[in-house]
Amino acid sequence: MSEVPNLAEISEDYHNWTLEDIEDAMIPQHAREKGGRDTIFAWLAKYQVAKSSGQDAINGTVGSLLEDDGNLAVNPVVSSTLREQADLELSAYAPLPGLPHFRTLVPELAFGDGLPVMLHHGIHLESISTPGGTGALYLSARNLLKPGTTLLLRDRHWGPYQTIIKECGLEVATWPLMPSSGDGQIDVEALDGVLNQLVQEQNQVLAWLNDPAHNPTGMSLTSESRMLVLERFASIAEKNPSKGITLFVDGAYAAYAKNHHGWGDTLALFSSEVMWPPNLLLCYGFSASKSHTLYGQRCGALIMIHPNKEFLERMLEVMLHTGRGTWSGAARLPQATVHSIHSDVDKYVDWLHERDRLQQMLETRRDIFNSRCVKENVPILPSHDGYFAFLPHENPEPIAEAASTRGLYVVPLKGGIRIGLCSIPTSQVDRAAGILADAWRTNC
Ligand SMILES: Cc1ncc(COP(=O)(O)O)c(C=O)c1O
Repeated sequence: MSEVPNLAEISEDYHNWTLEDIEDAMIPQHAREKGGRDTIFAWLAKYQVAKSSGQDAINGTVGSLLEDDGNLAVNPVVSSTLREQADLELSAYAPLPGLPHFRTLVPELAFGDGLPVMLHHGIHLESISTPGGTGALYLSARNLLKPGTTLLLRDRHWGPYQTIIKECGLEVATWPLMPSSGDGQIDVEALDGVLNQLVQEQNQVLAWLNDPAHNPTGMSLTSESRMLVLERFASIAEKNPSKGITLFVDGAYAAYAKNHHGWGDTLALFSSEVMWPPNLLLCYGFSASKSHTLYGQRCGALIMIHPNKEFLERMLEVMLHTGRGTWSGAARLPQATVHSIHSDVDKYVDWLHERDRLQQMLETRRDIFNSRCVKENVPILPSHDGYFAFLPHENPEPIAEAASTRGLYVVPLKGGIRIGLCSIPTSQVDRAAGILADAWRTNC
């Protein structure tokens, strides 16, 4: 008869296992490297503790748009339209590429009047629904670069870009957000330099460019700068016909930029004036998170733009495969909701009215913030649109700590401090800029 194990002894032994023992057994090395606390949530938690202990605290940590009373800004016509969707829209799967009418709508939302001009000049577009703009970024990273190669970012960027890039087994190269001198927006020499280097080292080049209303600075490119960037990518494609060049414009905040359809205007001009190299692909990441206050519904799309329709159909197949193998299909309900809003004049006008009110609120906050920073000589980076402003500094933690003792909670990131104008009540913005100025002066 086989010996009966002494369960009491075994479980006693199990009590001696350390967390490290369990991790050693359970988590393979590549996954053990993952982790790290999210700085943004850590500073939000500090704000919440301060607020609940009675400090007159200002919340500049959040990346969602808050009303002046601190509540999440929600576009009411979006919620009511979502609630009145038919059961089918709630329960059924969407077709894998997304609802056809949503896929047609997305380029119209992204490019406005530029779209018919692009189409007129023989440019084709193909879109695929994704879980938020993040899904669109992921699809591009998975399929437009070989694992192990390098993706190009500007040196200041949204932190989760790095996470997506790592998850896809890629490396990062950067070019400066702006030139170190002069009043231009594009460091052409640096961009050409890094593009040339990448094109020599790998067969495909992919760059992510968050514009307009860049996170974390609020900077928006002018029409000249947008064209300049496009021309540099077209030029590198032209000179290297055997290499694939993709520029991905991440338009997550475009709804809150003064020029909502700037990239549509630029692409229209580009497609009418420039011969489009067949080895150049343009991608645009659409997100309904901010524009339609649908953050949690995970609604977005990848738009691919190219003169060859068959190539785009092939790309759609490739992207669909990744979607199927990662999240399956994107949620149907928010796609149906966004489409319902934009196909009903009354709903559309309501949406636009509220979107414009929210944009105006952000502009008022930014004007107050920028003018106080000018008055106090605080060297924030150019900030034109959207949710954020950014104070560059090599050692941002002490500034953020000093600001918090005076009641302002902001987020120290690599290379500086992110100020969430989206979450600071308008009446507190001037005080917030004053606190930041004091904290910066005592630590600069
Ligand atoms: C720069 C940038 N890109 C993309 C996104 C993606 O947002 P979502 O996946 O919610 O659409 C965000 C969200 O904060 C962002 O800040």
